[in-house]
Amino acid sequence: MRRYTLIAAGSVLFSAFLAAGLAAGQKTGKGDPAKGKEAFEQCAVCHNVDTDETKMGPSLKGLFKRKTLKNGKPVNDANVLAQINAGGNGMPAYADMLSADDKANILAYLHTL
Ligand code: HEC
Repeated sequence: MRRYTLIAAGSVLFSAFLAAGLAAGQKTGKGDPAKGKEAFEQCAVCHNVDTDETKMGPSLKGLFKRKTLKNGKPVNDANVLAQINAGGNGMPAYADMLSADDKANILAYLHTL
């Protein structure tokens, strides 16, 4: 009987742990690069990823290997996300056009370029 209680308590703890882990995972917005690649199709109209050639916008090949964005800010998730949200100078603003998940996935994909 005692043993049974222990196991039950253990599994409750385990589920709580799992739920907390899942919630934390969503919070940090770990994206999926494969889904990001699909979502990026709408960006690929204007951005090359295989060559350094400028289309409508600058090539994003090796983006996260660069030190700075064209606007002079350091390349990091926050600044790239800000560019995606705000657009400008010919780029549409995606703040309301993409879900937080889409954006996290696109960021994950951009990291692979
Ligand atoms: C209609 C064309 C167009 C589309 C569509 C577009 N962009 Fe852009 N993008 C641009 C232009 C033009 C710039 C340069 C803006 C500037 O110089 O301020 C740019 C700049 C950027 C930059 C900064 C690059 C750098 O080197 O500083 C990033 C990152 C970026 N876009 C990502 C995206 C993503 C992700 C999407 C899709 C969700 C997207 N863009 C869709 C035209 C576009």
